[in-house]
Amino acid sequence: MKYYILFGPPGAGKGTQASAMVEKYNLCHLSTGELLRGEMAAGTPLGVQAKALVEAGSLVPDEIVEGMIENKFNSVKDVDGFLLDGFPRTAKQAEALDAMVAKRGESVTAVVSIMIPDSMIMERIKHRAAIEGRADDAREDVIRHRIETYHEKTEPLIEYYTKAGKYVEIDGTGTIDGVRESIFSVMDKY
Ligand code: AP5
Ligand code: MG
Repeated sequence: MKYYILFGPPGAGKGTQASAMVEKYNLCHLSTGELLRGEMAAGTPLGVQAKALVEAGSLVPDEIVEGMIENKFNSVKDVDGFLLDGFPRTAKQAEALDAMVAKRGESVTAVVSIMIPDSMIMERIKHRAAIEGRADDAREDVIRHRIETYHEKTEPLIEYYTKAGKYVEIDGTGTIDGVRESIFSVMDKY
């Protein structure tokens, strides 16, 4: 089984690129953001707990997302691997993921990181706000907080996975097709 991490700041293009990646490599796409928005829309206890944090652009507690990922690992069949989009996002989540995959006799395959500058994040998310209507895209201060949270809590994982020899960075500023081709050429090697 492959365990790919799709990494990058908000608006880098993770969700955009994920569909072609899962199709080409027969993976299950696990986006913790999408899973949380599903729980929020359904009004489940987990969704109710997550709503205020997600809408403020803050991270939800590690245990919540770790539990969601483990449930999927245990229930999803008939795929060649998983594409983790937006997880892990903290050092604790990265350690929990290592433990989860080790329990399955495997390890993280590679971290595919789509990188764009902060100035482009704001532009892309504002463009998407009009199309998707996500609550956390609607306010500039919330978007700024998401960017700060990324730098503070998630960016340190670059060093974690570089040390493990698993981190590959892709320039996310090109066209959607161009970025996809760069991603495929990386994934073909892992
Ligand atoms: P999540 O849903 O993961 O949001 P995010 O990380 O902020 O990332 P986005 O979904 O905003 O960006 P994306 O990279 O998918 O970009 P997209 O492809 O849409 O998380 C939301 C919230 O949930 C978090 O803030 C947190 O509260 C909670 N959460 C989630 N995971 C968590 C975790 N592990 N721990 C704790 N809390 C968690 O592209 C953006 C736009 O750009 C689109 O309009 C797209 O069309 C456009 N675009 C994409 N690529 C290109 C390109 N190459 N050229 C031009 N335009 C492009
Ligand atoms: Mg996304």
